[in-house]
Amino acid sequence: MSGVNEIRSAFLDYFAKHGHEIVPSSPLVPRNDPTLMFTNAGMVPFKNVFTGVEKRDYVRATSSQKCVRAGGKHNDLDNVGYTARHHTFFEMLGNFSFGDYFKEQAIELAWNLLTKEYCLPKDKLLVTVYSEDDEAFSIWKKLTGFADEKIIRIPTSDNFWSMGDTGPCGPCSEIFYDHGEHIWGGPPGSPEEDGDRFIEIWNLVFMQYEQTANERLDLPRPSIDTGMGLERFAALMQGVHDNYDIDLFKALIASSENLTGVEAGGKAGSSHRVIADHLRSMSFLIADGVLPSNEGRGYVLRRIMRRAMRHANLLGARDPIIYKMLPILVREMGRAFPELVRAEKLIEETILLEEKRFIKTLERGLGLLDTAVEELGDSKQLDGETAFKLYDTYGFPLDLTQDALRAKNINVDTDAFNRAMERQKAEARAAWTGSGDAATDAIWFGIKEKVGVTEFLGYETEKAEGVVSALVKDGAVVTSLSKGEEGFLVVNQTPFYGESGGQVGDTGKITGEGFEAIVTNTQKKAEGVFVHALAVTEGSIHLGNPIEMAIDHSRRSAIRSNHSATHLLHEALRSTLGDHVAQKGSLVMSERLRFDFSHPKPLSDEDVKRVEELANEVVLQNAEVETRLMAVDDAIESGATALFGEKYGDEVRVVSMGQALDGGSKAYSVELCGGTHVSRTGDIGLVTVVNEGAVAAGIRRLEALTGDAARTYLARQDALMRQTSGVLKVAAEDVPARIAALLDERRKLERELANAKKQLALGGGTSGEQKAEELGTFNFFAKVTDGLNPKDLKGLADEAKANLENGVVVLINSGDDGKAAIVVGVTKDCSDKVSAVDLVRLGSAALGGRGGGGRPDMAQAGGPDASKADEAIAAIRDHLNNI
Ligand code: ALA
Repeated sequence: MSGVNEIRSAFLDYFAKHGHEIVPSSPLVPRNDPTLMFTNAGMVPFKNVFTGVEKRDYVRATSSQKCVRAGGKHNDLDNVGYTARHHTFFEMLGNFSFGDYFKEQAIELAWNLLTKEYCLPKDKLLVTVYSEDDEAFSIWKKLTGFADEKIIRIPTSDNFWSMGDTGPCGPCSEIFYDHGEHIWGGPPGSPEEDGDRFIEIWNLVFMQYEQTANERLDLPRPSIDTGMGLERFAALMQGVHDNYDIDLFKALIASSENLTGVEAGGKAGSSHRVIADHLRSMSFLIADGVLPSNEGRGYVLRRIMRRAMRHANLLGARDPIIYKMLPILVREMGRAFPELVRAEKLIEETILLEEKRFIKTLERGLGLLDTAVEELGDSKQLDGETAFKLYDTYGFPLDLTQDALRAKNINVDTDAFNRAMERQKAEARAAWTGSGDAATDAIWFGIKEKVGVTEFLGYETEKAEGVVSALVKDGAVVTSLSKGEEGFLVVNQTPFYGESGGQVGDTGKITGEGFEAIVTNTQKKAEGVFVHALAVTEGSIHLGNPIEMAIDHSRRSAIRSNHSATHLLHEALRSTLGDHVAQKGSLVMSERLRFDFSHPKPLSDEDVKRVEELANEVVLQNAEVETRLMAVDDAIESGATALFGEKYGDEVRVVSMGQALDGGSKAYSVELCGGTHVSRTGDIGLVTVVNEGAVAAGIRRLEALTGDAARTYLARQDALMRQTSGVLKVAAEDVPARIAALLDERRKLERELANAKKQLALGGGTSGEQKAEELGTFNFFAKVTDGLNPKDLKGLADEAKANLENGVVVLINSGDDGKAAIVVGVTKDCSDKVSAVDLVRLGSAALGGRGGGGRPDMAQAGGPDASKADEAIAAIRDHLNNI
């Protein structure tokens, strides 16, 4: 049993046999600790379990935790390659007790594993204890029978372990292995302890306290945390003295020897070690969601990658090679860490992209560095300006320049380098304030200058801890916000998405010791500062406070679905309507999505149906949604849809989803996008278009729903349909025909009703004569009606006229609004004696109106007061009497 994989399994199995839960390694980006850049010990994921804040359903655990020590407090980057035991990435095996067993059993478990399972000879082992820890001393004594010199009391912090300035801590006991007299070095605590003979293999921490900012408290229950570096333990088990000689590293180094054609001896050895070590850290970091960038964790990753690339260059490689080593790493470690297999493609592409980009400037930068070194003469310090130029123009992180000069014993004037950096920032700020942006944004730019951009963790997680780095209220920077106050909060890292690219900002909750706040919106300001709009509901929040952030999970899930569906609809529109379809705007909310695009005319029902069908076809593929980081040009060249006029950085996220529906191997949709997306297309559930309309000339808008909202919408439509068919008493599919028939029938009935009313009007009414009355030579017929359509009056007058000689017909209809319409008809045989127009004017005047018009035989008018109908008739009658 000596391979790395066997040693790991044996460790985990041993503790599982002793009642420990095997817990998979947590990601390298700690979710639960804002003070840590990377997970750097096995206990990090359990921090809150030790302090009692978090409960799990087990009290004993064991794990092999991925750790990175390449940034922040624990930084081993500079040493890697030059020593036998430094790594940027390593695995820490550990066993943990959360208030269950304590010192005695922890020591016993460790001792038995080492001597009985791994069969290490007892006389090769020795231990240290904290000088005041008599209890640990006597447990070891009883168990091992060691002479006192082999249980060494150490008074320094070496034997009092703490995670950081704050957090759980306690005295510890370390187990050492004696590699033998042939190697120089002395036991721990001796003047020669830094030698390589006695190597620490396992640290048992007796967690007893919690260190807060001000005091050391007792933990609720004493606990155990242990850590064993897998690589160095494997070296011991494999009888080698150097971690880089174990099976795993041998395989990686053989691969880089192969690719460069340079054997791993002498100076080249360091370069091979650097590449092997850095390949592990870069691959695991990328698998855990970190991508190279110029800020925060992404910059640490970039530094690791570029350092490896310089060493590949030192070995003579002029083309990308590191990405070619990835399959070996996946072969060696993929079984224990499936995330490596899952992310293999992303890792490969990310490494290759970085290699391509950096190789372009690496040689020129190294040339510049050589010239600068020649000009140094006897001086052993490179000026800061040159180092800054290498950084700024050639992308050389400072530590890469330092590493390149290390062999020549030259250091860098880092103060001058930092001054040059500050100067550049000041210039950028001056240029920015002159650019005419809204004055209100100046505050965010100032904050960015001071605290840097926010690291967005929300692609990977919905919850995270952070430290408050700025607070703003009423447009001014403040140091605290209290219950009842509203303001804005900036934090070093956040899972909250800041509104951008059409996707709305996240909402959720922020809590901390003694306070609670509701986040009502999140926006991105000054290109990278995430601003959380919040209302404090409990206690108060201060600058520098640690906080816990949790976004509204269901809201974000809906937003993810809607954003991914927007991409699918975009592609479906293009394939249905043509390539002229270009995105003109979008709004991705939790409730629905809106997508504006160029197209000259309304979509037909068939178009909409087709678009919906295509999108749902890809949903049903349930294909994985992939995100990659690419150079903008490469992304566009590879066919990704970019938005015209949109500003992209050097590198962009490229989101691909689904498989092409023509059976090809391409993705269905590929877009440049910084938004958040579902993991598989099936997560969208369903896409339903609910609206299609115009926004402006040549621009159409689709509105759609997904998932639950789509289902609820369709269920409501269905219920309405059922209700409708119930009322109509026909099957759902007969509803349209039934309604058409009903409408037809209704039109027919309306016509019949109008006729009946007309008939009725001539035969009788609310007032007026039954038949014509003789007025001198005229036969006069007058009638007041109500409820008739005024348009029908003329027809009625014609009918009345048809039965009369020398006839004058007056019809007045009183409308629902109390107004009157009046029509006067005069038969031809007397139209030379009297004009219908004159008569209608008389009538209209009596009705309170004015005017009227028509021909001598038929005229019409109106009047505001239908109650005067009889007076109008009387006026006309008088007039006729007097002719
Ligand atoms: N947490 C302890 C360490 O990192 C075991 O050494």
